[in-house]
Amino acid sequence: HPPTLQMEESSGLRRSACRAKGGASGYKVAILGAAGGIGQPLALLMKMNPLVSVLHLYDVVNAHGVTADVSHMDTGAVVRGFLGQPQLEDALTGMDLVIIPAGVPRKPGMTRDDLFKINAGIVRTLCEGISKCCPKAIVNLISNPVNSTVPIAAEVFKKAGTYDPKRLLGVTTLDVVRANTFVAEVLGIDPREVDVPVVGGHSGVTILPLLSQVKPPCSFTVEEISYLTDRIQNGGTEVVEAKAGAGSATLSMAYAAAKFADICLRGLRGDANIIECSFVASQVTELPFFATKVRLGRSGVEEIYPLGPLNEFERFGLEKAKKELAGSIEKGVSFIRK
Ligand code: NAD
Ligand code: LMR
Repeated sequence: HPPTLQMEESSGLRRSACRAKGGASGYKVAILGAAGGIGQPLALLMKMNPLVSVLHLYDVVNAHGVTADVSHMDTGAVVRGFLGQPQLEDALTGMDLVIIPAGVPRKPGMTRDDLFKINAGIVRTLCEGISKCCPKAIVNLISNPVNSTVPIAAEVFKKAGTYDPKRLLGVTTLDVVRANTFVAEVLGIDPREVDVPVVGGHSGVTILPLLSQVKPPCSFTVEEISYLTDRIQNGGTEVVEAKAGAGSATLSMAYAAAKFADICLRGLRGDANIIECSFVASQVTELPFFATKVRLGRSGVEEIYPLGPLNEFERFGLEKAKKELAGSIEKGVSFIRK
């Protein structure tokens, strides 16, 4: 390892004592895929989160470089790097929250489902490690296609006998972040004042913004609804095309992932009214997984909110979303079961 990685072990008592104190008062978080386009800025943002005392950065490439870099930030969390499969178990042991942005991103012309072939196997391996080393951790799954990777993770955990649906969360926060931004632009207000529920899943028509439930209460013209729905559903593709082969959303995603991770940690801490949209095991529809607003607490997802009143446009969108989602969920489940 480069010298910086051994500092904790080799530089004597003072540093160790100081670090041990930090370790006792916060949460232990691992990022799997930490050297990637999302992983690196996410590592930076998690290192800045005062709720994090230990940050484990795992990747199959460059984990030590990113770790050395981030570890120089003068914030509280102790950062440790883990490189490659042989170090996966050490990366996971003792973690409270595991964030997974590992896997390949889209290029122009691809759907998220085109990533299934490669990412399904990556997610399976990582989740097997979680079952073994930190079965009680909250898992934030970012790797695409989220509509299938969350069912894959659930099946891996079931097989290992460690499945707790309250602790497995597909990250759809970027859809909410985009919806808030685009709606704020249309309304001419600050995006921080806007709250748009986005339900369903995380791909094309399965991304269903509920524009009739926007806060603060407002109304849109038919043209605005059509523009906003299309822009929110295709926000990912907008970035993929703009990056022209260099990947998909990384910076806005790292922001969204850090926001969601912070929400999960505040839930674990026992803060009241921690509510965000997420793709989770759900009985809100007939499908086994669905994204809606959920309330987070000490044990993960503690309450799942119903869809609320939908207008005709949204009811139509819901039927389309469910049709596509059903296939994606089934594809994930059968990847593990067969
Ligand atoms: P990237 O290629 O820049 O980074 C991925 C990282 O994963 C790389 O560092 C790679 O080495 C690592 N990796 C590959 N196999 C691994 C393994 N077995 N174990 C650990 N790490 C491994 O890609 P990115 O732009 O960071 O995107 C990552 C994933 O996140 C993609 O699947 C992308 O589609 C998805 N994504 C999801 C959302 C969302 O809203 N949920 C948003 C943006 C991107
Ligand atoms: C996104 O919504 O930006 C991600 O799912 C990445 C992608 O492929 O669009």
